[in-house]
Amino acid sequence: MNYQNILFEIKNHTGIVTINRPDKLNALNGQTVLELEDIFSVIKNNSEVFVVVITGSGEKAFVAGADISELNKLDVISAKEFSEKGNKVFKAIETLEKPVIAAVNGFALGGGCELALACHIRIASENAKFGQPEVNLGIIPGYGGTQRLSRLINSSRALEMILTGDLVTAEEALRIGLVNKVFSSAELLTKTFELADKISAKGQQAIRFALKSVRATDNFSLTEGLAYEASLFSLVCGTEDFKEGTAAFLEKRKPNFKHR
Ligand code: COA
Repeated sequence: MNYQNILFEIKNHTGIVTINRPDKLNALNGQTVLELEDIFSVIKNNSEVFVVVITGSGEKAFVAGADISELNKLDVISAKEFSEKGNKVFKAIETLEKPVIAAVNGFALGGGCELALACHIRIASENAKFGQPEVNLGIIPGYGGTQRLSRLINSSRALEMILTGDLVTAEEALRIGLVNKVFSSAELLTKTFELADKISAKGQQAIRFALKSVRATDNFSLTEGLAYEASLFSLVCGTEDFKEGTAAFLEKRKPNFKHR
């Protein structure tokens, strides 16, 4: 696929996806959602990519929401398709068996906040602002905001954001657990890549199983989840990386993981 609205490159096992519509504050139009769907299926099948970083072009916005000029044309039928399509793409991000880190470099509003929520880790710049301002447009979040925000942070705080449409600063987002870390704009990408490199240096079978096991909390009771964790723990102990990681510790050296 020829991408019009996203950029993609791979550096040191990190796949970097940049939403690239800075003149529209990287708003997600239908084409951009299709391109995201495509790039995440490429990433899924690219064994060179261990970790994904997703960010926005320019200094002002990560993603300022779904494209309101397209939203404005929706009717009851097309709105359902719009929401289901976004949910499918964001679910593919959330269930990707490679860590996805959102480097939130400015406004993350509506679909932009929901995109960040679908990622596994969120790192923000000091000027980032988060919000679900859909009520200002007479709608509700349609790409998972009502579901993921209230699972990630205190549900009453999530409701306050969704019912008022008020924006939350990066500092407040850190305090309420909406983001993992905050850095200056100048440092954001460097620090995010450092985190990606740290994860890439581990045995990738372990990373994959850790993601799968934590994700299982969405569907499993604690008892089921513990059984699932035990089966993945058992499988990971069959890998070469397990032998290498434990041997390296005992031999007081750094492990040389082969990701097998
Ligand atoms: N959809 C479509 N276009 C958008 C957009 C969106 N979600 N967000 C911003 N843009 C466009 C603006 O229309 C403007 O385009 P133009 O230059 O062709 O007029 C351009 O991006 C710059 O935005 P502007 O509003 O001029 O910047 P600002 O600094 O004054 O305000 C925001 C920034 C983020 C506060 C403001 O753009 C905004 O409120 N955007 C909508 C946020 C929203 O409601 N998102 C949820 C959608 S479900």
